[in-house]
Amino acid sequence: MFDRGMAIVLGKPGVDGLDEVVGALREWQYEGAPMQLHPGDVGFFWQSGAATTAAAVRTWSRDGRIQAVGLLDGPNLLRLTTTPEAQRDEELARQLVADVTEPERGVLPEGKVAVEAPTGALVHDLLSEDGWKIDEPWTPLSRDLTEPVQDPGVRIEVIGPELAHEFAAIHRSAFNGKFTDERWRSMAAGLPYTDARSLVAYDDQDNAVAVVTAWSAGPGKPGLIEPMGVHADHRGHGYGRAITVAAAAALQELGSSSATVITPNSQVGAVPTYKSAGFQPLPERRDRYRDA
Ligand SMILES: CC(C)(COP(=O)(O)OP(=O)(O)OC[C@H]1O[C@@H](n2cnc3c(N)ncnc32)[C@H](O)[C@@H]1OP(=O)(O)O)[C@@H](O)C(=O)NCCC(=O)NCCS
Repeated sequence: MFDRGMAIVLGKPGVDGLDEVVGALREWQYEGAPMQLHPGDVGFFWQSGAATTAAAVRTWSRDGRIQAVGLLDGPNLLRLTTTPEAQRDEELARQLVADVTEPERGVLPEGKVAVEAPTGALVHDLLSEDGWKIDEPWTPLSRDLTEPVQDPGVRIEVIGPELAHEFAAIHRSAFNGKFTDERWRSMAAGLPYTDARSLVAYDDQDNAVAVVTAWSAGPGKPGLIEPMGVHADHRGHGYGRAITVAAAAALQELGSSSATVITPNSQVGAVPTYKSAGFQPLPERRDRYRDA
């Protein structure tokens, strides 16, 4: 009666299961971990609403316990992480690779798709053996929060529903996107936002110039900045640095051990801005992708 281990079960959590998913992601964060899917990533995705978030999440469980979580951050990109103990677990990694490779399993579709996983996870090795290539480089950065964080030097306010329009307008300008007040409200109604703050920085004419959202994963764990942006009309005056410093201070208040962020190297100005706010770059991370 040598049972070679419990089967690993691929699942969709549904709205009611998101609590457990976010709880697992919080638990898996630890100081010094390779940059990985964070409760704040799910929290930012929550701008589309709880039902859409649930539909974008996949779980892999063994014996009723979640071992891996994936977030479909767009239909062709799965952002994946596992319990820290399972990063080199062969049975889990083989199952993950089979599930992301075969479209009929309902994780990723046919055609060009990408998988993000923590650097060093066995999934990388197995996808590479299967011919998946490495994608463009991203730079993770981290700022230790043991020492007090300096004053940002500009007026900072915490965003509540009455300032959602400032967040939305600056986000649209910074990312050429379609962010709305409604999206901010949806994000702020999400479970992970209980431990998050959105901040806005003002210039000395009282113009809202920069925004950030900072996500704690609980005391003693790394927090995440996602997103951070400065209005296109107000760049080059130190507001990117100021709002990033303010985010670090907010995470310190929430008990985070460090502030972390990850940005594509192609995002002009992002890495210099984080460095100027006291963040240290860590080794680059790359997604794996399969061509059509
Ligand atoms: C990146 C961004 C936040 C910079 O904001 P900003 O207010 O212009 O930046 P700051 O004036 O605070 O500059 C901070 C530092 O970064 C440097 N920097 C900023 N933009 C730069 C650029 N495009 N190229 C090179 N260096 C740049 C500054 O010289 C400054 O360095 P210093 O402190 O050594 O003097 C802004 O361009 C932006 O919102 N971009 C779009 C969204 C984005 O990329 N967000 C972050 C990544 S997700």
